[in-house]
Order: sequence, then structure tokens, then C-alpha cells
Amino acid sequence: MPKKIVAGNWKMNNDLSQTETLLKDLKKQVIPEDVTVMIAPSFTNLFKAFESTREHPIQVIAQNMHQSQKGAFTGEVSAGMLKSVGVQTVILGHSERRAYFNETDDLLAEKINTALENNMQAIFCIGEELRDRESGDHYEVIQNQLKNGLFHVSNDSWSRIMIAYEPVWAIGTGETASPQQVQEMHHYIRETIAKQYDRNIAKNVSILYGGSVKPGNAKEIFAKKDVDGGLIGGAALNAEDFMAIINAFG
Ligand code: 13P
Repeated sequence: MPKKIVAGNWKMNNDLSQTETLLKDLKKQVIPEDVTVMIAPSFTNLFKAFESTREHPIQVIAQNMHQSQKGAFTGEVSAGMLKSVGVQTVILGHSERRAYFNETDDLLAEKINTALENNMQAIFCIGEELRDRESGDHYEVIQNQLKNGLFHVSNDSWSRIMIAYEPVWAIGTGETASPQQVQEMHHYIRETIAKQYDRNIAKNVSILYGGSVKPGNAKEIFAKKDVDGGLIGGAALNAEDFMAIINAFG
């Protein structure tokens, strides 16, 4: 069974005191037992967030990391550094990293290897742009992102991989993919994994949806058969909204 996961990607938002306030508000809430809740603050606030949630089921994860173990890479953060502050899971291949920081499928394949070598879990993001969907190429784009970035990993590694389907045209735009569009693509992703690996792996991998998920639309999206959770941007910055989304799963 895939795990039900709701992860908040805070992106480049929240300084230290805003992080503390949001965490304080989140920790007051009761989290449904069958949902794994994750938050991804910026690098500078990971340690504080980890310390603050030590006694709490919220998992603190990272938004990105470098593919090398260490070295002369000014401004970058390694897997070892993340692990040393308690982080076990990293988001890789977010469309903002792909678009603004030139992260290619080849680079992401390396990052996935680094995460796995360090016994970390990864949330691997994929998603087509509006022009791909308009031209009808969205399935091919998704297939290529999976093939080139992820399908080199061993069968055993899949227990540490989650996928987030985030259509670029739905991120931060208020335009959500319809529950039907989400289900179709999640089903396609699962079938593609089943073909490349096996049905059991495909059945067990958590496939999250991301892109303008809000309290008002979460329930309908989460109700779809192949949706195992959400990767939430803007709405994760508000404790009430984030909790409403988490509870939409309950
Ligand atoms: P929004 O929920 O703000 O559209 O962002 C989604 C996202 O990019 C999560 O990684």
C-alpha cells in the first residue's frame, strides 16, 4: 500500500521567526494517524525545524541538495549536511529547479543516486508545461522525465522513492488540474512504472499531486484512486489551510 503523504514545500518563504511561528501553529493540530505529514523549510531553518518537531510526527525534509558528497561547490548543500541536521528526505527535480537553475534529467539522475547512496528518501518531481499539454505531448514528456531521471534505479530502491506530479501550468497559478486530469496522469505514471519494473513496485509507490491544491479542492483530488497525497506550495504557508488539506485525506 502506498503511504498517504501531504508535504508542504515552503520554497523561499519564511525566515527563522516565521518558521517558528508556523511550526508552533502546526504543532497544536492533531495529525491523522494514517497520513504522513512533511514540511520543507529553507536550508537555514532546517535545524531549528527539526529540533522543534522532535516530539512531533511532522517530518522535516529538504527542498534540494547537491549531487556531490562534498567539495568546492560554493553555496551548495550536501546529503551528509542534511542528514547531520536530521533530514532523511529530499525533494528533487522541482520544476522551479529545472526551469530557473537548469537542472536536467541527467543531473537529477545523479542527485537521485546521491540520495540513495546516503540512505535518504527522495520525492522526485515531474510535470509538463502548458505547451506540452496543449500539443498533446504531456504523456511523452512525463515518460521521458521518468526514464531519464529515475528509471536507472534498482528495484530495491523504490521503497525510498516517492513521485510528485506537478504540472508546471498549475503551480502557483490558482489553476488546478482537474481531478480527472490528475487521475489520468497518475494512472499513466503507475502503469509506466509497472511496465519498466513490476506491478508490485508500481502499486506501492506514493504518487503525490502538486499545483494549486487548496482546502477547497483537496478532497476531490485526494479521492482519486491513484492519488496518494499532495505536495503543497502556497497553502502550506498557512497552518489552518495546510491542516484543512491534511484533513481532507481523513
Ligand atoms: P502551489 O501549491 O503554490 O501551486 O505550489 C505547488 C508546488 O510547487 C509544490 O512543490
